[in-house]
Amino acid sequence: MEPAAELSPEFFADPHRFYRRWSGGGPIHRVRFPDGRVGWVVTGYAEARAALADPRLRKSGANARWMASVPGGPPMPPGSPRNTHMLDADPPDHTRLRRLVTKAFTPGAVEALRPRISEITEGLLDRMSGEVDLLPAFALPLPITVIGELLGVAEADRVEFRRLTDAMAQGPSPETITPLMTFLSAMVAAKQAAPAEDILSALIRTRDDEDGLDDHELTRMAFLLLFAGHETTVNLIGNGVHALLRAPDRLAALRADPALVPAAVEEFLRHDGPVGFATLRYAGEALEIAGVGVAEGEFVHVALTAANRDPARFPDPDTLDLTRPTAGHLAFGHGIHHCLGAPLARVEGQIAFTALLTRFPRLRLADPDFTAEWVEGFRIRGLRSLPVVVD
Ligand code: HEM
Repeated sequence: MEPAAELSPEFFADPHRFYRRWSGGGPIHRVRFPDGRVGWVVTGYAEARAALADPRLRKSGANARWMASVPGGPPMPPGSPRNTHMLDADPPDHTRLRRLVTKAFTPGAVEALRPRISEITEGLLDRMSGEVDLLPAFALPLPITVIGELLGVAEADRVEFRRLTDAMAQGPSPETITPLMTFLSAMVAAKQAAPAEDILSALIRTRDDEDGLDDHELTRMAFLLLFAGHETTVNLIGNGVHALLRAPDRLAALRADPALVPAAVEEFLRHDGPVGFATLRYAGEALEIAGVGVAEGEFVHVALTAANRDPARFPDPDTLDLTRPTAGHLAFGHGIHHCLGAPLARVEGQIAFTALLTRFPRLRLADPDFTAEWVEGFRIRGLRSLPVVVD
């Protein structure tokens, strides 16, 4: 079947406009990517939710298949590529990898982090004045500092850790990922010699059980936590502040009633969440989505930001409405891969918005006619910069 839609650079500038245009064509679309690859994109809420929970849509080896699928690209590597972290794995590997870290991310464990997250937040706000780009000044260092402390990055290594993670955030590539992996692998070795009170050490302690993670898995786990918990949280803050500054009445309502913040964070996630397409899935066998046949081996992209604006699920979906019911939004995914860090991201978001609004009563865009520029890519939905005035 010929693709019904092309993903062009304009798509990345405003995917919501495209989704609105596509919506007449149903909840699933055959799409050609700029590099020539073809795949399915699921945009309907009910279909997206079902796809995320469908065990016939596989993840293991999906990225290697994708690399091999570009026209004229490298051949598929022989054999099945090894599952290296939980987001790339299907059961039973996924079950085992996830179980081992689940304890660290329960809402209770995360609640205990509130005082420290507030301290980090206030420290960052202390250093802001006048006109600043909110992303590098605040939205970026907050989650990276939190996850660095959770993993147990040593005080002496913090500057190097920031340098490596900043480089990776600016452009994930072998040149930026390899040094970070080397850093994390050295950290794993150091924790083995001297375990402390952090997630990596806790995972090392489970080693005594036959189920423990090996060195390679520990390094990949640290990398996943870093990668999954970093840019996403940055863009929860960035996209949310941007949406609020464009909606002065809702900004005023939130200032007037800070008890609204938790609900507002959920609405920011629904309205313009940080993850555009969920991570890659492919059909392990032929299946149907909304009556459309998907052949074995074909790629299926679940467009979370589109599903969260499906008018059949969220009436008047383009409007930022801080008091609407948001339960069931898909910004953190759904099913067995539902975001492990969601409780942490929620707490960080709540603290960040409360502190920003309390500390800077006149927070505003540096340029009232600011034109948002979005990061190009279909996975991350985030701004390139957000210049604001904070005094
Ligand atoms: C998985 C979103 C923050 C760790 C996911 C998935 C989504 C998501 C959509 C599922 C992807 C899929 O099924 O293809 C977000 C958003 C965040 C956020 C919007 C911030 C607002 C975090 C944080 C952490 C984290 C702070 C940890 C420090 C993970 C992990 C997975 C995951 C480990 C994989 C779970 C699995 O495969 O079982 N996240 N995330 N995330 N997230 Fe998050």
